[in-house]
Amino acid sequence: MQYFVESSHFLWNPSGSRVQPGYTYLLFMDPRIQPIKSKAAREHAVGLLRSGQLVAIPTETVYGLAALATDDAAASRIYAAKGRPSNNPLICHVTDLDMVRRYVQVPAAMEILAEQFWPGPLTLIVREGQGIAQTVRAGTGKVGFRMPDHALLRELLGMVGVPLAAPSANRSGKPSGTRALHVAEDFSPRDLPLILDGGPAFLGLESTIVDLTPLEEGNPALLVREGAIRLEDMSTLLPLRAVGRQEEGMTVSPGLLYRHYAPDAPLTLLRGTLEEQRACLESSPDVVGTVYILAQELHGLRPADHVLDGGPWGEPWRAAQEFFHLLREADRRGARSIVASTWSLHGPMGVALRERQERAAS
Ligand code: TXA
Ligand code: MG
Repeated sequence: MQYFVESSHFLWNPSGSRVQPGYTYLLFMDPRIQPIKSKAAREHAVGLLRSGQLVAIPTETVYGLAALATDDAAASRIYAAKGRPSNNPLICHVTDLDMVRRYVQVPAAMEILAEQFWPGPLTLIVREGQGIAQTVRAGTGKVGFRMPDHALLRELLGMVGVPLAAPSANRSGKPSGTRALHVAEDFSPRDLPLILDGGPAFLGLESTIVDLTPLEEGNPALLVREGAIRLEDMSTLLPLRAVGRQEEGMTVSPGLLYRHYAPDAPLTLLRGTLEEQRACLESSPDVVGTVYILAQELHGLRPADHVLDGGPWGEPWRAAQEFFHLLREADRRGARSIVASTWSLHGPMGVALRERQERAAS
């Protein structure tokens, strides 16, 4: 099917060139976006993956850019398409812990955490074994696994029969893709022939990452990245500490070294309590070209058409669901700068959202 539309998103037209928003084009529905509910689409995905190609997959956290984790050539396509540094390893997505056992020795701590939190947004890093591609491990001597909380994705993983390596489906450094359309914007059909659509990602931020390998030397496991599963949710089950800021430049997790989640326009955060944020907006002028991503309570302080809604200040999980989408939306509106409120640190996703906001703004 084809439509005349006022294009409001960056899209790829069939000849492979990029369509700018704000112009009227003869657009085709992006034929790469297929519902993951469709069995035919899943079968198509299996065929592409087995032949070494990339397929975008929905997960409960963010969309992933997937390839066979057992195939160096396939995995290296992920790095090329994303523009990802080759020393930044990839997470392997599995059907269950039994699939993990085929590739590594599963330590007791992994059994305990998987029992409690899988399927779910928790990636566990363990000592490498046999069978996962070198490109995926990226010289770390370790490998990260996660069992996604997405039944149709697990069905696909079962059909493929081996783990899928998948980083977040966005160009390196950009906000993570949380909708099929974000993925379509970022990757050309030449690099990415199929995007399985599962609707907006349920959580909107990436998984918690825990490195279990320090336990081998009697040291606490390391919380490498904040996510929906929090330090306090796990610390009764095993010795665990958060990675310190000054450690990040060392060897903890290569991904921490790089610029992340950055929209095209520079992002400034409003800090402090809700009242302090209100006072800051009240005492400063509305700047032309600024798009505001604000907690609901602050909306009245700026013209409505300059404001994007992040939901109530006390419900950071709602802002987390939308945050990457809203950064992209601000860019799409041609923002020259973006000002975002911060949300409560308490409650699910509060700390994880703040961590993403700080990185996006830095
Ligand atoms: O929720 C998620 O985790 C999403 C979805 C698609 O599953 N994936 C994701 O992947 O966020 P990515 O590549 O954007 O972030 C993975 C992080 C990187 O910072 C990487 O350095 C770290 O995990 N990581 C993966 N394997 C590792 C390993 N073997 N050793 C150390 N760090 C590792
Ligand atoms: Mg990422």
